[in-house]
Amino acid sequence: MQPVPVDAEGIVTDALPAAAPQLICVTPSHQFPSGVVMSLPRRLALLDYAERHQCWILEDDYDGEFRYDQKPLSALRAMDESDRVIHVGTFSKLLFPSLRLGYLVMPRSLRNDFRTAKWANDLGTSAIEQAALAHFMTEGGFERHLRRASRELQERRNALLQGLDACSDGRLEIADSHAGMHLVAWMKGATMADGERFLQDARRVGLGLHPIHPHYMEPPDSFGLLLGFCGLSTAQIREAMPLFHQCLDRARQPPP
Ligand SMILES: Cc1ncc(COP(=O)(O)O)c(C=O)c1O
Repeated sequence: MQPVPVDAEGIVTDALPAAAPQLICVTPSHQFPSGVVMSLPRRLALLDYAERHQCWILEDDYDGEFRYDQKPLSALRAMDESDRVIHVGTFSKLLFPSLRLGYLVMPRSLRNDFRTAKWANDLGTSAIEQAALAHFMTEGGFERHLRRASRELQERRNALLQGLDACSDGRLEIADSHAGMHLVAWMKGATMADGERFLQDARRVGLGLHPIHPHYMEPPDSFGLLLGFCGLSTAQIREAMPLFHQCLDRARQPPP
């Protein structure tokens, strides 16, 4: 496995290895964990690299349906003239994770291999759940659900952004990508040890916060938090933010 850096435009295509890998795994619609949306020039550069080196791209579109205040860019698969992209989608986030249903949009030449791999892996996915989901889609329920969920998530996201804005006082840098189900808050100037103390303090007052660094192959320079806004109601988010604010104020003071 070879890590490739990600900047504000997504995967740094100039840093892709000279010796081509067999597969490049990316999350273009909302990079996990940074939340960056891959820019159009980077999408084109990545497709060009895959074509020149004859490697596959796995486009993991795990929460791409949820966008706020911004039009989505085309999926890599939709721009893929040389047929190098395998697009993976899941209903884990759109509906619920225990459904265990996902889908692939892939080059025809790979279809039999994927069928065989799926068969070898788990013999196939429940036909009843697939039929129920197909019915939900053809009857229009899925579209309605998406619209309702998007509205609700937008409200939760706004509540989180407002809460962070109210308590930041220049101490937080918010990486907001107008997509997905989480955003990232970097604690300016905080070391990993500062961050660990902050997490413990937050835990004491009942906040379960997740640091971003365990998702990195090489730890980032500063301490950041992955803030999911979908598992909590707007009221819960509003209730939590004053506690977050107090922890942030305490983090400013030296430890006893
Ligand atoms: C990066 C990424 N890909 C894919 C998924 C979805 O996985 P699954 O469909 O197995 O639930 C997730 C879920 O959190 C994810 O974070």
